This record gives sequence, structure tokens and C-alpha cells, in this order.
Amino acid sequence: MNLLQEIKRRRTFGIISHPDAGKTTLTEKLLLFGGAIQEAGAVKSNKIKKGATSDFMEIERQRGISVATSVLAFNYKDKKINILDTPGHKDFAEDTFRTLTAVDSVIVVIDVAKGVEEQTEKLVEVCRMRKIPMIVFINKLDREGKDAFDLLDEVEQKLGLRVVPLSFPIGMGYDFKGIYNIWGKKLNLFSPDSKQKVSAGIEFTDIDDPALEDVIGKEAAERLREELELVREVYPDFDKEAYLKGDLQPVFFGSALNNFGVKELLDCFIEIAPTPQPKMSDKRLVDSKEKNFTGFVFKIHANMDPKHRDRLAFVKIVSGVFKRNTNYLHVKLGKKLKFSSPNAFFAEKKEIVEESFPGDIVGLHDTGNFKIGDTLTEGEILEFKGVPSFSPEHFRYVNNADPMKSKQLSKGLDQLMDEGVAQLFTLDLNGRKVIGTVGALQFEVIQYRLEHEYGAKCSYENVNIHKACWVDPEDEYNEEFKEFKRVKQRYLAKDKKGQLVFLADSAFTVQMTQQKYPTVKLHFVSEYK
Ligand code: G4P
Repeated sequence: MNLLQEIKRRRTFGIISHPDAGKTTLTEKLLLFGGAIQEAGAVKSNKIKKGATSDFMEIERQRGISVATSVLAFNYKDKKINILDTPGHKDFAEDTFRTLTAVDSVIVVIDVAKGVEEQTEKLVEVCRMRKIPMIVFINKLDREGKDAFDLLDEVEQKLGLRVVPLSFPIGMGYDFKGIYNIWGKKLNLFSPDSKQKVSAGIEFTDIDDPALEDVIGKEAAERLREELELVREVYPDFDKEAYLKGDLQPVFFGSALNNFGVKELLDCFIEIAPTPQPKMSDKRLVDSKEKNFTGFVFKIHANMDPKHRDRLAFVKIVSGVFKRNTNYLHVKLGKKLKFSSPNAFFAEKKEIVEESFPGDIVGLHDTGNFKIGDTLTEGEILEFKGVPSFSPEHFRYVNNADPMKSKQLSKGLDQLMDEGVAQLFTLDLNGRKVIGTVGALQFEVIQYRLEHEYGAKCSYENVNIHKACWVDPEDEYNEEFKEFKRVKQRYLAKDKKGQLVFLADSAFTVQMTQQKYPTVKLHFVSEYK
């Protein structure tokens, strides 16, 4: 085993998109290239299509699938590729944000007809803030859509990106002839019945070659030449360093469903996408090449099997080699733990592994030791930063609906919150519990899971809260903070970590409170320092 070689061959990324843009289809086609699956249709979409009531049943049914699809690994050429699944549904956006803390780069899928949509904007904003390298894939070119240049403008303006097309479409929809792969200097002709076969493409190092006319016709050839000329004039040259810094985003065009343009994307991706990156901890920057193992939990998933009430904690390996049956320090608990059956993930299955390397994800069976954000090391005391909680959008009081089962309820709530399904706030004044979620759907999911997994029943009661604001006083002992606490007593609560939170009833209240108590800072994100 050579750590450096293993690091060099790894690419860990996430695909983000608005629901229906083609994320699942693209994932599946990428897996086909890796030979990880044999046929299309093998990757189940875990998106939610129907109305809210049937949704959580559906989620429940699919949880088994989504454990498997949480991480999809495959080998392509000499690279080991890990795709981390990111739910597109906005009610699960927080899950996606957390997963983005574990990727080294992302591919953004955009529907050629719909252009930039709401979820894409939100997710790209997070990636932009974190300077995550992004490649854009414009999908569904076999359908009528927006003009390529208009779309590139839209991507630049709405997503705040600086793009450089590395492929360019020849026509679209009914008239879609193919793409010119600027990166590989090849022409790929489209034929809708070539779904699973991938043509090698026709080499055209010189676009002025008269042979181009023979292939796509005079008119299309002229137009392509003009468009490529415009691309050269308008867009910067591709610069790998700028891409890696998050300052430049290459764009590819294609049709995932028809497996067209996907290989070009993948071939470029494995060449330019970053290897496992260093990660900041509270003490120092940890480099992937360091000999000692470090990693952090970015996702926790309850197991499907009701007989085994254990959960799977997904750990991203940041540095060193993770080994089976070896003692590692759970930094927050100050406890050594060892794992006899760590799982590695492949396209359709998980397997027990002896060793894993930076960039890889291991699934550790957990009986309640892990919370999202926890760090494991070989003994060094450090904790990785950057797995934040965002202020929820929906809030409700949670009540115990079966007094005989109060223990089960508190255990269930505890564990579901550890999984990051929602956030729990306990009011200082009377100890009442408030659940906050990103989407309304989670309330049903919680109720359902409490009943089915913990035998507990809960009911909800409306509460008028607009946002949870994490309280950050400049000086804990000054009069201003004391007054703030006195006046706002009814609205103060603790989050699961014991941090002080102000539950504001309106945007106006947040603004007024901030004006009145300028030394008491209010944040919509739990990790603000
Ligand atoms: P998502 O994961 O981003 O939500 O999208 P998904 O891949 O499920 O794709 C959404 C729909 O778009 C699917 O159709 C899929 O077949 C279609 N699609 C994906 N890529 C292309 C493409 O390149 N061209 C065309 N024309 N369609 C594409 P559906 O009818 O919603 O689902 P299904 O019944 O086909 O699975």
C-alpha cells in the first residue's frame, strides 16, 4: 500500500441539481462507465415525487436504498471515484449541505430548458462560499431548450460563476447533431438510438478542416465554427489552477438519458478534479498525506433492520489510513473505539473493508456514540470544523402523546436529532421542547419513525417562530447581555449542544433586537466562529 498513490487516484465528489434536472440519470451513466453496474435503471432515485402524505412512507421504503446510494464508488481507468449522494428535495437541503462538507468537488446538473432553478442557486451558493471546485453539466440537449450562449450567461449571472465551455452543442432538440468536445478536440455525433453505446468520437483537432462539412453539413459546420470563435473571444482559456481554487467553472453539454456527452465529462473530470483535500480543524490544517488517520462524521443513517437498532455513521477519511479493528479516539467523548466491520460502499453493495484511504467514506456501525460533526483520530486532540446547522424554517412544539412511553420518546428524539433529521430546542423558561426543520415533511417523518422505531408517540403544537438565532455575545458579563437575557427570557432556548439560541418570531424582531443589543450578535448558522 502506498498512501500517496492511493490519494492521487481518488476523486470524491457530489452531484447537485434541482430535482428532475437529471442527477440520478447522470449518476447511473457514470456508474455504467465504471462497469460498476451492468444496466440502466439500477440506481434508484430517492427523490420524492408525490404529495407530502405518501412521501414519508416512500422515504421509509427507500431508506434501505438510500443507505446504499449514499456513497457510490467505482473505478474508472486508474481512478477510484466516490460519488456522495445529495438529496435534491428542498426539505432535505440540510442533509445536502452537510454532505458538501465531505466532497472535494461537485458537478452541477442544469436542465437545458429550465435553466438555473431555485435549488441549484442555493446549493451552488454554498459551494461558492466554500470555494469548492465545480463543473457544470447542461443536460437534456436532446430536447428543445435555451440557446447555449443565453444559458451560459444565465449560469454566470444567477449562480455568480465564471464559466468556460469545454464542449459545445451542435443544434439541440429535434435538430441536435452532437457536441464538439473542446477539451478533447473531438466531434461526437448524436444518434438517439445509441443509448448505451458510446462512440469514440471523430478527431477534429482543426475545426477548419473541410471534412467537418461532410460530417455535419455545410450550414451546421459554419455555425459551429462561428460559435466556437465566439467562445474563444468571450470566455477565458481553461485554467486548471483557477478551477481548483473555485474561480473558474468548466461547462459540458450533453444528454444523460442518451449517455451522450457523459464520457467526455468523466474523462475531463478525472484529469482535472481535485484529489482529497486538506481540511481545517480547530487546531490546524490537516493534510491528506499525513500518516496518521483522521476523519469526521458527516452523515448518520438509521439502519433499516428493526431487529438491529444500530445506525451507520458515515466517516470521511481526511488523512492517513483507516484500519479495521484498530483503536481510534472519538475526540468529543474522549473515548477509544474500534470497529470490527467497517463498511465500504460500491455501486450496489456495501462490503467490510480492511483499509480505507483519504477521500473514501467508511460506514461505521454505531449504537449511539456518534453525532454529526464528530472527529476520529489516532490520539491527537483536534476537531474538524465546518459541519454547521442552519436555522430551521419550520417550528413546532413537540408533546408526548403516550405518557407511558416518555423514555422512548426522549431516546427517539435524541437519536433522530443526532442523525440530523431536525433540530431540537429546549426552552429555558419551562423546559418545553421545540422541533425545528428545514421542510414541513420532516415532521411527519419524525412522527412516523418515533412510532415505528422507538414505540413512542408524539403530537405537535403550533408555535410562532420565524428563525432560530444562535446568540454570540461580545461580553458575557456586560449589562447589555444581561438585559437581553432578561427581556428575551421567554424566547431563549438551548440547542442540542447546549448553545444559547434566540427563537425570534419575525424578521422584524431579529432586526430590532440586533439594533437594540448591538454587542449581542445573532447568527442563523450554529457554527459562526
Ligand atoms: P433528478 O435525479 O435530478 O431528480 O433527475 P432524474 O435523473 O430522475 O431525471 C428526471 C427526469 O428527466 C427523468 O424522467 C429522466 O428520465 C429525464 N432525463 C434525464 N436526463 C435526460 C436527458 O438527457 N434527456 C431527456 N429527454 N430526459 C432526461 P422521468 O420521466 O421523470 O422519470 P423516468 O420515469 O424516466 O425515470
